[in-house]
Amino acid sequence: MFNLVLFGPPGSGKGTQSDKLVAKYGVFHISTGELLREEIAQKTPLGIEAKKFMDRGKLVPDEVVIGMVDSFFEKHKDAKGFLFDGFPRTVAQAEALDKLLDLKEMQLDAVLALQVSEEELIKRLLERGKTSGRSDDTNEEVIRKRFAVYNNETQPVADYYKKEEKFYAIKGEGSVAEIFAALCSEIDKRIM
Ligand code: AP5
Repeated sequence: MFNLVLFGPPGSGKGTQSDKLVAKYGVFHISTGELLREEIAQKTPLGIEAKKFMDRGKLVPDEVVIGMVDSFFEKHKDAKGFLFDGFPRTVAQAEALDKLLDLKEMQLDAVLALQVSEEELIKRLLERGKTSGRSDDTNEEVIRKRFAVYNNETQPVADYYKKEEKFYAIKGEGSVAEIFAALCSEIDKRIM
C-alpha cells in the first residue's frame, strides 16, 4: 500500500483518474474539493464559509483544510494508504501533511502531476460546467482565477516535492485510459 498525491491544475483529470486508481489499488481517496462540497451541501458553518472562497476561485484557508484532512484521518485510522486529490495546494499544507503522516508512522511515496495545456483545461471545465452544478465551472473569469491561484500558490508545492525527489510529471492529455495506463506504470515502477 502507498500514499500518493495526484497533483495538477483544475480540470487536469485528478478526480477522474482517482476513481480508477482507488478501484485498482484499494487506497482511500481523499479529495478536499469533494469534502468541501459535501460541507456546502449540508450547509454546515464550515461549508458556508468555504463557499465564499470557492465561488470566487480562491483557496479555502489552510487551517480549515488541514483541520478537515486531520479529522478524515481520525475517521479512517485503519487505512493502509491514501490517495490525495487536490491536497496539498500550498506549501503550508504540504508541511502539515508530512506531520500528519508522520504521526501515523507513514510517509508520502510519490507525487504524480498531470500536465495539461490551459486551453484544454478551459474547454474541459466549461463543458463540465453545463451539467456539474459547480458554480466555479460556469464562469470563465472564475476558471482563470483558479489557474492564477494554482500558478501562484500551488506551483511552489511542486518545487517542495521536487526537492524531496518525489515529483513525477505525467502527460495528462489523451484518452482517460491512456493516462490511467501511464499513471499505473509509474506507480508499479516506483512504488509497488
Ligand atoms: P477541487 O474540487 O479540488 O477542484 P480542482 O482542483 O479545481 O479540480 P477539478 O475537480 O475542477 O478538476 P480535476 O483535476 O479533478 O479534473 P476532473 O477529473 O474533474 O477544488 C475546488 C475548490 O475547492 C478550489 O478552487 C478551492 O476553492 C477549494 N479547495 C479544494 N481543495 C483545497 C485545498 N487543499 N486548499 C484550499 N482550497 C481547496 O476532470 C475535469 C473534466 O474533464 C471532467 O468533466 C472530466 O470528465 C473531463 N476529463 C477528465 N479527463 C479527461 C481526458 N483525458 N480527456 C478529456 N476530458 C477529460
